[in-house]
Amino acid sequence: MKKQTSIKQLRATGSVAISCPPEASAGIVRASTWWEAFCALPKQTRLEFPYQEGSGYELQETPGATRDLKEHFHFTEGKADWLADTAIQTGEVAVMQFVQNTVALLPLIRPLVLEFAREVEKFYGLEGFVDEVASGEGKWIIRFLHYFGGRIAGDEIATAHTDKSGFTLNFTSTSGLERLDYDGVWRPMPVAEGQTTINTSMQLQYRSKGELKALCHRVVATPATAVNGRFSMVCFIPLTKTASYNKKGAGRLQEFAPGFNYTMPFEEFGKLFVKE
Ligand SMILES: [Fe+2]
Repeated sequence: MKKQTSIKQLRATGSVAISCPPEASAGIVRASTWWEAFCALPKQTRLEFPYQEGSGYELQETPGATRDLKEHFHFTEGKADWLADTAIQTGEVAVMQFVQNTVALLPLIRPLVLEFAREVEKFYGLEGFVDEVASGEGKWIIRFLHYFGGRIAGDEIATAHTDKSGFTLNFTSTSGLERLDYDGVWRPMPVAEGQTTINTSMQLQYRSKGELKALCHRVVATPATAVNGRFSMVCFIPLTKTASYNKKGAGRLQEFAPGFNYTMPFEEFGKLFVKE
């Protein structure tokens, strides 16, 4: 992998940009295209993948202060058989293509994930980090998102939050993604074509004892996405041997003040986690 930015800057900025090999880029485009086709299907068909154990489809049409209006689909390798069987049962070519192209994507992005993990382990001295990431592959989540149109440019269509997992790969170059830098200023977080931007998430902050901090981010509607909606794709890499963010006890991460974790002492931060 050709690094565009150094792993050293992860501590200062919370993200690095990495070039994707051409086959991975092509796989990302194929899966994204079929996701858009899936979203164009009747609601009844989309709802044939009820969300279970971290996989499947969810539709959020009811507004709330920190509830985003969107539909999303989670894919994990551990549920690949169920997703493939369900796709066949629908009899819809677009559904089968969407699932097949998503199954095919995982091996293409695996090298990017493991290379990032190797560099983080080496530079930040996180012993066993690569093994932990690799052994959790069945739980890596490829998440497809569709924020609906009919909004106003400047609307926060994805509420500011940090991600729960270890780290997140962002694959979508459509503008609107923003980061809250550690100096407290919101700035655009562009993802160049043919690249992925990897950002730190909650478990990595915990695993590194606060040396790395989960990057707060949001999505703001642009003039184009306000009208047409926004399709995107990310991959969450959970750390399966590390304590998890305690959503039940501590609440949804969208309900915290943006950047709450940047200055929080590690002792206090650690209380947000539970061993599973
Ligand atoms: Fe996120």
